[in-house]
Amino acid sequence: MSSNQLGKKSQAWSALFSEPMSELVQRYTASVGFDRRLWQADIEGSLAHAEMLAAQRIISAADHAAIARGMAQIRQEIEAGAFAWKLELEDVHLNIEARLTELVGDAGKRLHTGRSRNDQVATDVRLWLRGEIDRIALLLTALQKALVDLADRHADVIMPGFTHLQVAQPVSFGHHMLAYVEMFSRDAERMADVRRRTNRLPLGAAALAGTSYPLDRERVAKTLGMVDDEGEACVCQNSLDAVSDRDFAIEFTAAASLCMVHVSRLSEELVLWTNQSVGFIDLADRFCTGSSIMPQKKNPDVPELARGKSGRVVGHLMGLFTLMKGQPLAYNKDNQEDKEPLFDTVDTLADTLRIFAELVGGITVRAAAMEAAAQRGYATATDLADYLVRKGVPFRDAHETVAKAVKAAIAQRADLSELPLDVLRGFDPRIDEDVYDALSLRGSLDARATIGGTAPTQVRAQIARHRQRLG
Ligand code: ARG
Repeated sequence: MSSNQLGKKSQAWSALFSEPMSELVQRYTASVGFDRRLWQADIEGSLAHAEMLAAQRIISAADHAAIARGMAQIRQEIEAGAFAWKLELEDVHLNIEARLTELVGDAGKRLHTGRSRNDQVATDVRLWLRGEIDRIALLLTALQKALVDLADRHADVIMPGFTHLQVAQPVSFGHHMLAYVEMFSRDAERMADVRRRTNRLPLGAAALAGTSYPLDRERVAKTLGMVDDEGEACVCQNSLDAVSDRDFAIEFTAAASLCMVHVSRLSEELVLWTNQSVGFIDLADRFCTGSSIMPQKKNPDVPELARGKSGRVVGHLMGLFTLMKGQPLAYNKDNQEDKEPLFDTVDTLADTLRIFAELVGGITVRAAAMEAAAQRGYATATDLADYLVRKGVPFRDAHETVAKAVKAAIAQRADLSELPLDVLRGFDPRIDEDVYDALSLRGSLDARATIGGTAPTQVRAQIARHRQRLG
């Protein structure tokens, strides 16, 4: 490579270096193109650090005031789009610090006392992610509410419940929707748990070993709201771990992956249900697209894309695991690679949850098609077995008897409930007229009223519980 290709525009890092970084290396190592997204957290962390430095008399009150003034201006410049981000200043941290020094002189140069970019970036990512987790928590609540509303409108609608994607037993459509509410409520629990471990302060770890300045780390933690339920400061307790740990980001991406997998399962069902040979639901037109060649098409693009995007988020999880795997203590530049997958995970999950809360509100339920499908699949065969058990037949024998009855019904292309009483009695003489209550879809549904069962009374009780919980 010629010296020209190595580039000669920028200054060397410090007096230690005898030549500037090559332009190619500069582009390769710079992160400002994406980590500028952390600017608010970076300023917030710096202000908390400076306030503490002044309180500990490590810098003067005048320097603290100058830093606060300079940061206020930088904030305005960034918000107005007037801030000049510079690639040669590598990342968000150095860009903001350099501008601060430009604005307020030596006070700006004192900000980095007792601090390293290693504990700074770890703090910034945690602060930023904490805010995003709070936003995601609200979106998860909104999606759950939309599902509960849909369940409430259709608690009495009967659909075939499937195992192995074969008709199994009738269930309430509301009950089916509430299954997803359970999944998303566990996702919200997981997010709250991840938040606890994210909300801890690395600042004060400095480069890796701590610092010789008398920092008050707990004060900084409290300023930044990094406190537990009792209001006690949450401070990372080992400096090496503080600067190198990214498991909070991995945990978050794992929780996000699981949530996306839940969305993906729901998506798969929505796609299936809109298929013409199933016809259980319609999606609102605003969530579908047409075909450029087939005029009749209305494609469920949104659930299909969400199903696809779940793969993308799971991919980020694998990326982050692999990023961490070979790293020795403490900070390594590898960690700069945590940001793009983390940012994209947040964006993908947040967009997906927001769109799904709306999409669910726009579902039209085709109750007749659902009920007809349940009617076709011998969905009440278990109910006939349970009926025989109530008449004293051991369950295994009842199971065998009903299998014979279903076989006969299939031969006659009839439902069990359409077989005359004398035919049914042929399978077991203990069968009476009341068998037809047990064989009805409605009777089957109503009978399953244990906690978590599909009886509409139970579904309504669950809806009330969820409404209370979700506020
Ligand atoms: N941009 C870096 C990152 O994202 C900041 C920390 C750099 N630290 C260092 N010692 N080079 O990880």
